[in-house]
Amino acid sequence: MWKLWVLFGLSFVLSILAEDDGENKIVEQVPVGNGKVINQFPVDLITYTVATEETDGYLRYIRSAHLYGYHVKTLGMGEKWEGGAMAGTGGGHKVNLLRKALKPFKGNNNIIIMFTDSYDVMFLGPPDQVLAKFRKFDSRLVFSAEVLLWPDKSLAPEFPVTETSYKYLNSGGFIGYAGDILEILEDHPIKNDDDDQLYYTKLFLNKNLREKYRMRLDHKASIFQNINAATQDLRLNVDKAKTDGTFLENVVTEETPLVLHGNGPSKLALNFLSNYLARSWDPINGCTACPRDPLDLSPPPLIMLAVFVPWNTPFLVEFFDKIKNLTYPKNRIMLFVYNKMEYHDEVVDNFIEESAGQYLSHKQIASKDNTPESHARNLAVQLCLVKKCDYFFTVDSLAHLDNPDTMQNLLQARKRFVAPMLVRPNKAWSNFWGDLSPQGYYARSLDYMEIVNNERRGLWNVPYVSSCYLIHQEVISKIKGAFTQENYDPDMSLAKNLRDSGVFMFVDNREDYGHLIDADTFDITLTNPELYQNVENQLDWAKRYIHPNYSQSLMEDAVIPQPCPDVYWFPIVTPRYCKELIEVMETFGKWSSGKNTDERLAGGYENVPTRDIHMNQVAMERQWLAFLGDYVRPLQEKVFIGYFHDPPRSLMNFVVRYRPDEQPSLRPHHDSSTFTINLALNTPGIDFTGGGCHFIRYNCSVTNTKLGWLLMHPGRLTHYHEGLKVTNGTRYIMISFVDP
Ligand SMILES: *[C@@H]1O[C@H](CO)[C@@H](O)[C@H](O)[C@H]1NC(C)=O
Ligand SMILES: *[C@@H]1O[C@H](CO)[C@@H](O)[C@H](O)[C@H]1NC(C)=O
Ligand SMILES: *[C@@H]1O[C@H](CO)[C@@H](O)[C@H](O)[C@H]1NC(C)=O
Ligand SMILES: *[C@@H]1O[C@H](CO)[C@@H](O)[C@H](O)[C@H]1NC(C)=O
Repeated sequence: MWKLWVLFGLSFVLSILAEDDGENKIVEQVPVGNGKVINQFPVDLITYTVATEETDGYLRYIRSAHLYGYHVKTLGMGEKWEGGAMAGTGGGHKVNLLRKALKPFKGNNNIIIMFTDSYDVMFLGPPDQVLAKFRKFDSRLVFSAEVLLWPDKSLAPEFPVTETSYKYLNSGGFIGYAGDILEILEDHPIKNDDDDQLYYTKLFLNKNLREKYRMRLDHKASIFQNINAATQDLRLNVDKAKTDGTFLENVVTEETPLVLHGNGPSKLALNFLSNYLARSWDPINGCTACPRDPLDLSPPPLIMLAVFVPWNTPFLVEFFDKIKNLTYPKNRIMLFVYNKMEYHDEVVDNFIEESAGQYLSHKQIASKDNTPESHARNLAVQLCLVKKCDYFFTVDSLAHLDNPDTMQNLLQARKRFVAPMLVRPNKAWSNFWGDLSPQGYYARSLDYMEIVNNERRGLWNVPYVSSCYLIHQEVISKIKGAFTQENYDPDMSLAKNLRDSGVFMFVDNREDYGHLIDADTFDITLTNPELYQNVENQLDWAKRYIHPNYSQSLMEDAVIPQPCPDVYWFPIVTPRYCKELIEVMETFGKWSSGKNTDERLAGGYENVPTRDIHMNQVAMERQWLAFLGDYVRPLQEKVFIGYFHDPPRSLMNFVVRYRPDEQPSLRPHHDSSTFTINLALNTPGIDFTGGGCHFIRYNCSVTNTKLGWLLMHPGRLTHYHEGLKVTNGTRYIMISFVDP
């Protein structure tokens, strides 16, 4: 019988959404009353559900129904829900809708009916398997079963003894003969806001009814799996995936359930599983649930781009360059810019002055307005709605969108809420949480690292995202004051509101979108504070400060200039680096006296003193040592082959200043180092005359030093050297004695 239905099924599958309400051909033809049926359509399982809104959960349910070929009838769509809050008791409304829908089946037991919830339910297998399993029960009506008894715990002793922990009735799923179910439902009435689970529980506990209809609970979760208090029984098989996708196993009952229900507080567990199940993701095909065909974006939706600078944030200039670089048509973008930090006024004002005119409209909230962040966020949302935006797209100053097509790509996800996945480079820190702790804070999901590392790419339903996201207007219009829930910061507040409203938050790593900045150590009291960020934000730091030709020296066939024997020369930092490092030193200003006594040193004595400032005096020692390890060490290994020291050690790291009226030169000496680096921070002939380094053994000088280039030479024995006299101006060099 079922096989025939499958043939017809294809056309129905395509039209299920359209036939949600109103009578359906099948139902019109099936019931003729009193056991007599003219059933021209070979349908023997009809699935009913109740949904008053097309929530994300409902869409997920329908997708899985389409996938496996269920004939679903949705009751109540568009009606006002009278069954109480989702979290509390209630749900009688569902019973009344079902009773009404089953009226035409009076006496008709040729039809099997399955009822399921939909917002927190999905199918994991086809209807023929459901029917086969149902028939094995030898029952007229099978209810799904769960571990916990709810809502009336006092009823526990009345339940039959069972061998599994799935002891109690759950009303989110049942299957039975249509006529019988109608008879049972007519046994007694229920008010819309009474509890449906209690109602069905009482029917089940009524021994006469139970025996008459051979009612059973699905104790082994052979058809219905309720997740709450049962996650430890479940195994998601991802690695062993067959071509038909991933599957869920109940390892305790050894069943493969077909209907999965995130009952009670297990919604997030369901969301997690739903990323994989019902052919959503498998290792062979990747994200099979992700939309494939391109969405036509003409005319482009009207988007409010809301930029937030709520923190002192390194690399904000680059951040705004990337905002400018977004390829989404600016005449379809309303710009909103919020800056809380006075420190950033200039950068933000420059951006507004230069770019705001290109957008459809713009609104700025400046630091002097003293608007709290959460208020500004709510305001932006209000403005978006007032101006009839289609989407709200928010980007915080930590979120660097390196992909200029981010906005279009996110729209292609066709989600009501979607965030580009952004990660701190080479770290586990991202803009989403895979799971939530019982207290509502961060918890790591089993698949978190695979997603963060892009080993699994797709669209992932997660409980929290921050920093950057695209929200459909329909969603934001529902959540008033979304960012101002008490005791939560704005992002936590939004995520909680969305979870409570049943809106799914998807994080998207189908593509690379960008990365997150780490602002934790950004100290604006420092001179040129970004210069200090090579450890926390290496990627951005290197773009700004590492010489564009640095990596050429590391190539296999690179020819490294050697101006004197065993003195190697490499481009390493940008002119900007050199300028900013000089500024750091001159702002600090405490140049040493150039005398032999030096209280900065352990021994208090310097044999060959210079006028200098040590890196630790300007709080840059840690950063400099990291720089030595990250950038200098690979160069050293290239030219002094066979010497490895990782990380390099160096106690003496300092900037030297030579000038005619102070200290113009340095007498011949050896360095206490395995090798020495000497980085030119300014340019002979422009910033000073004279100067340079003379290697006495080889009678060889380097005087045409190059800005941002590094000289590297052995420290002892062979490379006895002196600093040549500066005759005018000031010469700055950065010196390290590596591996003393
Ligand atoms: C802007 O986009 C262009 C072209 O995609 C790219 O070459 C450039 O690096 C981008 N600039 C920034 C700051 O990302
Ligand atoms: C980098 O090297 C190329 C030649 O390989 C040269 O043309 C270019 O000017 C160099 N860039 C800088 C900034 O020095
Ligand atoms: C060192 O080199 C300079 C020129 O490069 C030369 O004039 C001088 O005689 C050399 N000194 C010795 C000791 O070879
Ligand atoms: C030194 O440099 C300054 C400024 O660059 C210049 O005015 C002056 O004439 C120079 N003096 C000598 C002796 O070259």
